[in-house]
Amino acid sequence: MKTRVGIVGAGPAGLLLSHLLHLEGIDSVVIESRSRQEIEATIRAGVLEHGTVELLRKTGIGARMDREGFVHEGVYLRFAGTTHRIDFKALTGRSIMVYAQHEVIKDLVAARLEAGGMLLFEVKDAAVYDLDTAQPTIRFHQRGKVEELQCDFIAGCDGFHGITRPSIPSRMRHEFTRVYPFGWFGILVEAPPSTDELIYAHHERGFALVSTRSPQIQRLYLQCDPNDELKNWPDSRIWDELHARLETREGWKLAEGRIFQKGVIAMRSYVVEPMRYGRLFLAGDAAHIVPPTGAKGLNLAAADVRVLSKALTSFYKSGNEQALKDYSATALRRVWRAEHFSWWMTSMLHRFHDETPFHHRLQLAELDYVVTSRAKAQTLADNYVGLPLE
Ligand code: FAD
Ligand code: PHB
Repeated sequence: MKTRVGIVGAGPAGLLLSHLLHLEGIDSVVIESRSRQEIEATIRAGVLEHGTVELLRKTGIGARMDREGFVHEGVYLRFAGTTHRIDFKALTGRSIMVYAQHEVIKDLVAARLEAGGMLLFEVKDAAVYDLDTAQPTIRFHQRGKVEELQCDFIAGCDGFHGITRPSIPSRMRHEFTRVYPFGWFGILVEAPPSTDELIYAHHERGFALVSTRSPQIQRLYLQCDPNDELKNWPDSRIWDELHARLETREGWKLAEGRIFQKGVIAMRSYVVEPMRYGRLFLAGDAAHIVPPTGAKGLNLAAADVRVLSKALTSFYKSGNEQALKDYSATALRRVWRAEHFSWWMTSMLHRFHDETPFHHRLQLAELDYVVTSRAKAQTLADNYVGLPLE
């Protein structure tokens, strides 16, 4: 098999890249180790930045998002028993969309299949070769047969645990990591919304977040031990903690309901530099991870592949390699801004186990500054709705 761009991984990065290339008349093949059902059912992120929303709309895959997603024009910060609103619309003129990642995946898979795109699911043992030559190759097993895909370029969109990043010789990889001493316990609940916009809550017992999925389904998170197990969290403990961390002096009420999904999410910051080796280009979680507090993971994946698709288009249309040479530096500028924002939000809102009362007071002072200074609120709003795409 031959293709121009061989894409490893059918997450948001790989599928969107394939879609953007198709719109420019550039063919690609996507290989994915999981089944279509599995990728369309995996619960992950929920917030789309303004630029991501515009990109999906402009490229013809925003119709269901516009029908079923929720436009939010701000978020709430809750601390010391009081709620404060950060007004995105007033501060930036822009808004965000709450629309689940697996719904974006469904829309992208449908668009690729409708356009006759090659998506190969349930491939095994994928490996990449000859990355520093003009014809890199992907080998994998499908239905018991060894397949070989010859490419002009390979896009490593296979997430944090994929095989493309480790295929770069270690001396060519510069890695930057921070692992946080806590995780998030995430649940999906059958209940009406308790709030019209997301609530990020700082509390002595730990962080809590109230998000949504639909008028009937809510998404809630609690800071927990990173090695926590589901059996330690019976429903009654989850509700007790959520009520304790979210209660206010204004008498706000959290609507309870049937919990039908639970999971623990690790919290990590990670970047590899550069995001390219020879003809292998990394995009999304394959190259970087952010803690979810800034809601940036999925949006960074979209921003990376937008830059990469433009660079590949420029190469195929004019033979000019400059944009491909610039890919890593261009993508990394945005990546590091998002790394800083996600680290800042995480540091300000969570309880650290080695925290002193002094550190806790500093967190409260910072939160107080964010909700009273227009400049500081603007910084949060600008970063949350997302910087303009390249
Ligand atoms: P992925 O979505 O990880 O996609 C990679 C794809 O590659 C997968 O489908 C995988 O099966 C496939 N793959 C891997 N290895 C191979 C291989 N060897 N061969 C073929 N295919 C392969 N972000 C937020 O902003 N908010 C959240 O609440 C949030 N929650 C998260 C919860 C979890 C459990 C995780 C893991 C991530 C979460 N994120 C969240 C981050 C966000 O979901 C990611 O940033 C986003 O999915 C990145 O997209 P991606 O396409 O780069 O990678
Ligand atoms: C979500 O809805 O899953 C979500 C929202 C905001 C975040 C993280 C996750 O910061």
